[in-house]
Amino acid sequence: MTNMYTKWDRAALLEEVSLRVKKARFAHILRVEAKAIELAHKYAGDVEACQLAALLHDYAKDMPRSEVVKIQQAAHIDAEMLAFGSQIWHGPAGAYYAKETFGVTNQEVLDAIYQHTIGGEQMSLVSKIVFIADYIENGRDFPGVSEARELANQDLDAAVIYKIKQTLKHLVDREERIYPGTLTVYNQWMQKMED
Ligand SMILES: [Fe+2]
Ligand SMILES: [Fe+2]
Repeated sequence: MTNMYTKWDRAALLEEVSLRVKKARFAHILRVEAKAIELAHKYAGDVEACQLAALLHDYAKDMPRSEVVKIQQAAHIDAEMLAFGSQIWHGPAGAYYAKETFGVTNQEVLDAIYQHTIGGEQMSLVSKIVFIADYIENGRDFPGVSEARELANQDLDAAVIYKIKQTLKHLVDREERIYPGTLTVYNQWMQKMED
């Protein structure tokens, strides 16, 4: 990793990330990094951008809610999003820290971090790569992961749609509430398929 998008070198950045997240999550982050680099090569994406977004994507996941409340306005986290819990807001919060703590200004990197929890209507290649790398990194083991990996090997958009659908199904099966933004993203991708 060069200093193209942040002044932090990889070692210093990892040190800081390791202080903020649980051990198991840190290992996950390294696997997402490896997968994001692999996908970036495969799809001719910006390797540096994908790698950096992967390294920072879960930075805010283990943060206490009280910390996030302080940055809520600046991170564009509305009350509804805050109420849904870190599962949803750690993307937007992560993008905020990427900018404020790590000095990242590249919009694709910031959007990829922002969007990784629920996806987005407009996703750049970097955003899609991080979204899928997070889903299929080598440590993942869930029903459907091999299909997701196969799709990611053939067609990145198909993999994105698969993840959006599976996530929704999973939430419904477990009778969990669905963040309205998740439904909006689903509807937009279904619309895209009809067009
Ligand atoms: Fe995450
Ligand atoms: Fe993750």
